[in-house]
Amino acid sequence: MPTIAVTFYDVVLTIHILAVVVAFGVVFAYALIDAQIKRSGPGDLAALHRLHVVLARTLITPAMVVVLLAGLYLALDRWSLGDPWISATFAILIVLFGLTGAVLTPADERLAQLAERDAKAGGAPSADYEREAQRANAFGGVALLLVVVAIFLMVAKPGM
Ligand code: HEM
Repeated sequence: MPTIAVTFYDVVLTIHILAVVVAFGVVFAYALIDAQIKRSGPGDLAALHRLHVVLARTLITPAMVVVLLAGLYLALDRWSLGDPWISATFAILIVLFGLTGAVLTPADERLAQLAERDAKAGGAPSADYEREAQRANAFGGVALLLVVVAIFLMVAKPGM
């Protein structure tokens, strides 16, 4: 009868991949969710951006910390932090922390305020809102691209 040897490494790798799903899965749906909510008016847009902020602080950032800690364990156990695919992904994750904390979350806070102001004025999203949203979408796109590159580096392990 075949035996299945499950190592602690396998458990940590599972946690690492689960944390990747939790941290970034929802972000890939943002474009669709945002477009849907935008159709229903500025009042709902404020709630949408507040939800983005809550998700960034209570789900995405903590899950990224788990990605980092589990990744460090895996790297130190069987690989090396000097391996190019690991050091490059490490750098990408640091950039993602920066983008989330210093760019995207503050942008969502500003967008929530602007959407509230627009809703009170009773009109469509203002030019200020559209400008800020465009900037946030551009940075959000960069973040998603970095996640795709990180997954490719982790799977293909170029340089190995
Ligand atoms: C955005 C950040 C990250 C993403 C999306 C990501 C994604 C993944 C994925 C999908 C795997 C499974 C690959 C496979 O089994 O073929 C993996 C494995 C791994 N990751 Fe990450 N990871 C990230 C960050 C990190 C960091 C920062 C480190 C180290 C400091 C790291 C170290 C590792 C190691 C050592 C493996 C195990 C490879 C193996 O045993 O085959 N990861 N990662």
